[in-house]
Amino acid sequence: RMMKSKMSCPIDIDRLNAPLLEIYESLIPAEEEKAKQKQLLTLLEKIVSKEWPNAKLFLYGSCANSFGVSKSDIDVCLAIEDEGIDKSEVLLKLAELLQSDNLQNVQALTRARVPIVKLMDPVTGISCDICINNLLAVTNTKLLHDYSKIDVRLHQLALIVKHWAKSRGVNETYQGTLSSYAYVLMCINFLQQRTPAILPCLQGLEATYKVTVDDIECAYFDQVDILVGFGAPNKEGIAQLVWAFFNYWAYCHDYANSVISVRTGRILSKHNKDLTRRVGNGRHLICIEDPFDTSHNLGRVVDGNSIRVLREEFERAAHIMQFDPNPCISLFEPY
Ligand code: GTP
Ligand code: MG
Repeated sequence: RMMKSKMSCPIDIDRLNAPLLEIYESLIPAEEEKAKQKQLLTLLEKIVSKEWPNAKLFLYGSCANSFGVSKSDIDVCLAIEDEGIDKSEVLLKLAELLQSDNLQNVQALTRARVPIVKLMDPVTGISCDICINNLLAVTNTKLLHDYSKIDVRLHQLALIVKHWAKSRGVNETYQGTLSSYAYVLMCINFLQQRTPAILPCLQGLEATYKVTVDDIECAYFDQVDILVGFGAPNKEGIAQLVWAFFNYWAYCHDYANSVISVRTGRILSKHNKDLTRRVGNGRHLICIEDPFDTSHNLGRVVDGNSIRVLREEFERAAHIMQFDPNPCISLFEPY
């Protein structure tokens, strides 16, 4: 495959700031949607507490990490005493309770990689996935949320990238493309890499938050209020960042040798990392390290075919940001 040379940023890129920000604003969910999510969570808490009085429910994923767009599903984690429980039994029991409380489309997927119960609430119209004891996801949700409070450009970039990925059909893990979680990690790492940096590396600072989850120690600096303004010396606007993000993934990233690492705020060399312990396709055509579960490569779903699709989409986006007279339309054109 031919490596195209790195482009330089179009001098009039800032003309795209306003239209990109307009798209960004349109993606942010309305307050009433938040209220409906709360309402559904309260209902679920009521149902769950009757059967498991000591259980707790946590929101995770995009409804809690701040990177949700309007009309997203919500992800809920049921935290329940581990000793002697059978996850499938709990899920089936939960499905039964939900069904008798008039929730719709209730389905227990006990054999999925992450077993869940799916449901739709006819009152709020919100769909929801409930998993059990997936507290690592709750913890990385908090990490992403904390990063989002430091510099608004992360929120802008990540919502635009997610919108692009959904429009272009490259946000489908079952088809070998990347999860929303992977894209947000790519955005965080990208902003850690700017000069001057727009985001710090929270796991590289003195830990003010520490939990041990599934034998993994999760620790980082979470007093992010005092980091607001960290990125201020960097004056890049959203258009320039969107351009640079796609340019990086189209022409600059060393797919064969590099690992994106939010944990270190760097790009690591694959040779120094053992990402092969987890089963996957074994090839690791793109490597994105999970910030806490460091043996977990979010790019493990990518195969020989989907890496080509992904890279063509990065190149298409970079080309549009460079040359298209109307990039804000072309970029998000349905595939
Ligand atoms: P949308 O639903 O697309 O808006 O995004 P989301 O942020 O909810 O992301 P997604 O549904 O991809 O993932 C939900 C959460 O699962 C993430 O925020 C992570 O906390 C957690 N997670 C942990 N490991 C993985 C993984 O390997 N793949 C995915 N998809 N999620 C993971
Ligand atoms: Mg989700």
